[in-house]
Amino acid sequence: MSQQRLKIEVARAALKYVEDGMTLGVGTGSTVNAFIDELASSGVRLEAAVSSSEETTQRLEKIGVRVIDLNQTGDLELYIDGADEVDEHKRLIKGGGGALTREKIIAAASRKFVCIVDASKCVGVLGEFPLPIEVIPMARAMVSRKLVGMGGRPELREGFTTDNGNLILDVRNLDLVDPVRVENEINQIPGVVTCGLFAKRGADVVLVATENGIESR
Ligand code: A5P
Repeated sequence: MSQQRLKIEVARAALKYVEDGMTLGVGTGSTVNAFIDELASSGVRLEAAVSSSEETTQRLEKIGVRVIDLNQTGDLELYIDGADEVDEHKRLIKGGGGALTREKIIAAASRKFVCIVDASKCVGVLGEFPLPIEVIPMARAMVSRKLVGMGGRPELREGFTTDNGNLILDVRNLDLVDPVRVENEINQIPGVVTCGLFAKRGADVVLVATENGIESR
């Protein structure tokens, strides 16, 4: 089965968590795009959605979903999003699409986070995928030095600005055996807006599309 087919299958599986009248948190990325397509043809009528990126907002509005600001609503019942890596404790690396800050905010505001991935995203230990970190522009060099001090190899994502007007450092070589500790440590560096580790608040459910069907963790 192609990777795109797997994304469609897992997107479809996520629909069973979505109910008419919900205000839904919606993430960013190609798997979420497949989810939005499936949502469009599902007949489910959302009350509204809170979106994690300009791209997702455009796609949702195109299928007739009203997108509201998080400040206009209380906690969300459900958040659907993809990930770049998932470990067996449902801890994640996110931010490959650069939307990690809004994604982390929506995850924190949601009672249930259902993460949708294909099997290629599942790893034993996080860290093969370079860890995205959103940084205030004036702090780029200083944050990079601190990350080097932690053993990392940060690289500026060239030509990329986040929806919040900041930069992304993609960091290789960090030891992520204890991702909660590293997430805390990186969050303490002044100038870091968000670290792409979703370890303290990981997913509640991970749906994995495999060649043999959908696995739920
Ligand atoms: C967006 O910033 C990311 O966190 C995405 O959720 C992640 O990169 C997964 O994207 P794909 O579904 O395109 O792999």
